[in-house]
Amino acid sequence: MCGIVGYVGNKNAQDFLISGLKRLEYRGYDSAGIVTLDSKGEATLLRAKGKISNLEEKLAKNKREDKIGIGHTRWATHGEPSEANAHPHQAGSIYLVHNGIIENYKELKETLKEHEFKSETDTEVLAALINSFYKDGKHSLINAVVQALKLAKGTYGIAVVSCKAPDEIVVARSGSPLVVGIGHDETLIASDASALVGHTKQAIYLNDGEVALVKKDSIEIKTLNAEPVSAKVEEIETNLAAIQKGGYDHFLLKEIMEQPESLKETLRGRVNLEARTVHLGGPGLSEDELRKIKHLVIVGCGTAYHAGLLAGYYIEQFTPEITVETVIASEYRYRNAYIPEDSVALIVSQSGETADTLACLREIKKQGVKTIGIVNAIGSTISREVDGGTYVHVGPEISVASTKAFTSQVIAMVIFGLTIAQAKGVKPSILYPYIKEIAAMPEAIRETLESVHEKVKKIANKYTKYDHAVYLGRDTAYPTAMEGALKLKEISYVDANAYAFGELKHGPLALIDDRFFELALLPEGHLYDKAISNVQEVLARGGKIIAVTNVKKFDMKVEDVIEIPDTLEIFAPILMNLVSQLFAYYMTVAKGYNVDQPRNLAKSVTVE
Ligand code: M6R
Repeated sequence: MCGIVGYVGNKNAQDFLISGLKRLEYRGYDSAGIVTLDSKGEATLLRAKGKISNLEEKLAKNKREDKIGIGHTRWATHGEPSEANAHPHQAGSIYLVHNGIIENYKELKETLKEHEFKSETDTEVLAALINSFYKDGKHSLINAVVQALKLAKGTYGIAVVSCKAPDEIVVARSGSPLVVGIGHDETLIASDASALVGHTKQAIYLNDGEVALVKKDSIEIKTLNAEPVSAKVEEIETNLAAIQKGGYDHFLLKEIMEQPESLKETLRGRVNLEARTVHLGGPGLSEDELRKIKHLVIVGCGTAYHAGLLAGYYIEQFTPEITVETVIASEYRYRNAYIPEDSVALIVSQSGETADTLACLREIKKQGVKTIGIVNAIGSTISREVDGGTYVHVGPEISVASTKAFTSQVIAMVIFGLTIAQAKGVKPSILYPYIKEIAAMPEAIRETLESVHEKVKKIANKYTKYDHAVYLGRDTAYPTAMEGALKLKEISYVDANAYAFGELKHGPLALIDDRFFELALLPEGHLYDKAISNVQEVLARGGKIIAVTNVKKFDMKVEDVIEIPDTLEIFAPILMNLVSQLFAYYMTVAKGYNVDQPRNLAKSVTVE
């Protein structure tokens, strides 16, 4: 979603702001803007609707040597995407960029009659409110910001500059991330550490309720109640290669192809094949606590939700005493659901910033239930608020469509399930087949990607004329089908939905006609024959089936077959999901759509 950058130092601020905004492009946006100040406080404000390249065109005619500034990519919430609604917003000497939503902006606006509003945004209201405290000189910039924030309700990550204080940036956060990067004679600000990579490795992640006065050589942090905060300086682990395309045409393809390596990172130190055990340090649960767990609630949105569903199927297979309930965060947060005793909640999120998932985490904590994060982004809000956690360590995922995170989220959760099973004394002979396959999975993924790549590309090209698709699976292949359908719809805009094979006769079978194709996931296993009967039913109604299977010599007369290596049994659906990922990718390329930044979507959904 929206992105924030800021710079104060000795270098050219416009240069950093533009390069930082480009790094945040992947989050999704519809307009962009920057403001810089010269040493006398004269402001250069540049804003443009659409891509950052439009902003760069304006910049070419307005190059400045200014050494301080803030910038923003906006994803419209209040008011259409337009130059007038783009940030920074100005009120008097104040310029403000803002991520989040000021919920009481209408009431606040009523009290700000002196300001002539030029946009429809809640952000301009906050700028005017800050200015109302600042303009008569009674408050310093940081105190004016604090006064205003005490009246604002909602979520925010903000950066503020004033023409009257051209060496200061004030930043604050409540529910929307902000990172302050510490450089040599420069301080950098971003809503996402990827904008800081290559500039500094030292960063401070602000907590909710904190506000900071940032200068080129100092950072003072306090709470809104004026209590000083001694900040923890953390290391930014990401390197430049991780946020570049590395020779691929799109981040999505790069991220699909790097799964053998990214999964290895997830597994590092967690699987001991010789001892036939798994180990997770992060959750911080004692053997006794693990033994007592009877119920898992898994919370996530989109792909993270699907990962939770799939992991739930596996965990129930090998831990008979446990029930698993996987829930959609945007629903669960309002459900008033009772969580039984001896439960643990897994909070699954690639970004660690998803608003609904974060809200669930907070609700669940209120019930006194232990929360464990399954998170990728290090230092993210969810990773900081959970009681314990397991980072999946897949590195930055830039493309809006989540791929490598899914694979690693599933496996990280299965490993967590295995640690519970170990503690409960489940026989090693039951657990070992899972552990063995997990250890073999990076290589199996590499082999599968290699063997199916060209064929999937060819088949995807063949189906580009379709606007409707049905994905089908049973058991563990069902959540996998859901994930495949989500991938296809979100980037290729094909209306793709997934059904459990057994549900076909209860409605979806009526859909089958020549406007649709069906992608059937058919792993070998105890439900294979039943799935094949369902395939027959679809074929009998003229369905056009693409079968994805690990069954050798699959001989059904379907439209297309994509065979995957039979290296894994239990986790074969995860290999099949690689086919779905590549299929969605090549369909999108063939249709000519924006692969990494699909329309209307943002990478990290930080507002409800
Ligand atoms: O960052 P999160 O994992 O919390 O994000 C959850 C969803 O927004 C995300 O998985 C979304 O569904 C992806 N765009 C799907 O590819």
